[in-house]
Amino acid sequence: MCWSGRPGGRCPRWPPCQPRACSRIGTWTSALLLDLLGGEQTQKAADGLVAAGILAAVPTLTAGLSDWAELSGGSRRVGGVHALGNTTALALHALSWAARRRGNRAPGVALSALGYAVAAFSAYLGGHLSFSRGVGVNQTAFEDPPEEWTAVLGENELEEGKLTGAQANGAAVLLVRKEGRLYGLIDRCSHRGCPLHEGELKDDAVVCSCHGSTFRLDGSIVKGPTTSPQPALQVRVESGKVEVEVRAAKSQD
Ligand code: FES
Repeated sequence: MCWSGRPGGRCPRWPPCQPRACSRIGTWTSALLLDLLGGEQTQKAADGLVAAGILAAVPTLTAGLSDWAELSGGSRRVGGVHALGNTTALALHALSWAARRRGNRAPGVALSALGYAVAAFSAYLGGHLSFSRGVGVNQTAFEDPPEEWTAVLGENELEEGKLTGAQANGAAVLLVRKEGRLYGLIDRCSHRGCPLHEGELKDDAVVCSCHGSTFRLDGSIVKGPTTSPQPALQVRVESGKVEVEVRAAKSQD
């Protein structure tokens, strides 16, 4: 099954737009269709849709710039072109709206058509960042923790209050002993994938060393930038070995 969600269906050869970009693109698409196919009666609706798309684009642009600031390498370069495209599309639609308000309909429609073409290309780049480079997706989706109890460490390798990384059937896991209780999380940070065991334990929370996302020991979020909780693991000690499994996701009593 491809990402289109159609079992056995043909996969498109281009990535879809990111969800937060889709509302803006959808609004501007509707405006363009009304401009091209509608008559005088639909002009007001088309102008309203252009304005709605502009309003939707402002927070998207702000969120996108914040995401871009955390990227590096090739993703940062693609993200830079994507941000420039979004800014240009927003500016062209703002100029279009101003022209429409002054009654200059033909230049207004031309500007929004040009802005739409730029926005569509930029949305393609945004989709590429998400679906091909994994930017902005929950990074723990790439881990496959064991569904059966799996030994990962000797019990005496787990020191009180120390974040300890281990491997469980190929999945990176984080273990913590806190006041005698054992806790386990997926080690790969849900934000951008940094190893959480390289962060620090502050009070009852794990702080990621990369961008400061903070998770309680049950995986819930204390503080972003992450927007996805960290999957928690069940932990127990059997015959001197620390074992983990993903089911039930509760810490040991
Ligand atoms: S990778 Fe960004 S906060 Fe963890």
